[in-house]
Amino acid sequence: MTSPRILVVGSMNMDLNVYGVPKIPNFGESVVCSTYSYATGGKGANQAYAASLQGSDVTMAGRVGDDPNGRLLAENLKKAGINTDYVVFDQNAQTGLAPIMVDETGKYVSYVILGANDHLSAQDVLMAIDSDQFDMILMQLEMPLETVYRTYELAQERNIPVFLDAGPAMNIPLDRLQGLFIISPNEAEAKALTGISVDSESECLEAAKQLYERAKPQYVLLKLGSRGSCLYDGNKATIFPAFQVDAVDSTGAGDTFNAAFITRFCKGDSVEEAISFASAAAAICVSRLGAQPSIPYENEVHSFIKASDYKVSPY
Ligand code: ATP
Ligand code: RIB
Repeated sequence: MTSPRILVVGSMNMDLNVYGVPKIPNFGESVVCSTYSYATGGKGANQAYAASLQGSDVTMAGRVGDDPNGRLLAENLKKAGINTDYVVFDQNAQTGLAPIMVDETGKYVSYVILGANDHLSAQDVLMAIDSDQFDMILMQLEMPLETVYRTYELAQERNIPVFLDAGPAMNIPLDRLQGLFIISPNEAEAKALTGISVDSESECLEAAKQLYERAKPQYVLLKLGSRGSCLYDGNKATIFPAFQVDAVDSTGAGDTFNAAFITRFCKGDSVEEAISFASAAAAICVSRLGAQPSIPYENEVHSFIKASDYKVSPY
């Protein structure tokens, strides 16, 4: 089986993960937490890293500052076998940084200082997009919105399907993104885009229908944290439950999910099979600390699925 060729367009951040966060402070308040660690992250870089570990042939288009964090991020991707020729070292901006506060259940809130990610341009993407015959483009929203739109238009001109991870949470016009392969928000992103809290199955369906109308994708794929995910194909919504794990840090779970999904799909899995596999990869990710350090290799996911009693078909 040949490796899927994936172009990831997106953010590269150094993450500062703070653990044992008992509460979110108010302004003027300091809250004592237990430990912290730095980890390579950023939605784009996480997705590139995860796609590579899952067996894709990955090219990364992104921007970092010409500083130690930027060099470390690029080096980490290179070590994972990713083509980093289209990672630009921006002389006028710092590398993105994300302070991430993780609670005892593994859930987190974060800030993102975009830095160089905010200078990623359509020209940067144009250089990368013609460097190979890509099977799929994976992108997110941690970059200028115009770059998101232009990336989609460049992909359309070349008939390359695009998977849009709709994070971080914001409400953007979707007119220029009509015809995406998949739009995939998490719970907060779905709320920001549609105004609907996706707490119940009927609310998931309502939000998915609205996104389907606005973006006219092939699928809407909602990521619902420990509740799993929800696929909408324009006719029906299907819930895919999450695997049961002891969650310690969900940073990068969605990124792992997206990347594992497209790798499996491009290798020939059905959408449903690819979601089940992606759910397993993401569950492993939440059971470990940090973004990129927690992303599993393909063989770990196979072993994990074998050892679990998860029914691969959705309910
Ligand atoms: P990130 O932005 O940090 O990459 P996200 O918020 O986009 O993550 P989530 O909705 O948290 O993504 O999770 C993505 C997928 O990971 C879920 O659809 C689910 O399959 C899996 N997952 C998340 N949390 C858990 C958990 N506690 N236990 C098992 N699986 C989980
Ligand atoms: O999706 C998780 C990522 O979002 C983190 O690694 C952080 O850098 C932010 O970009």
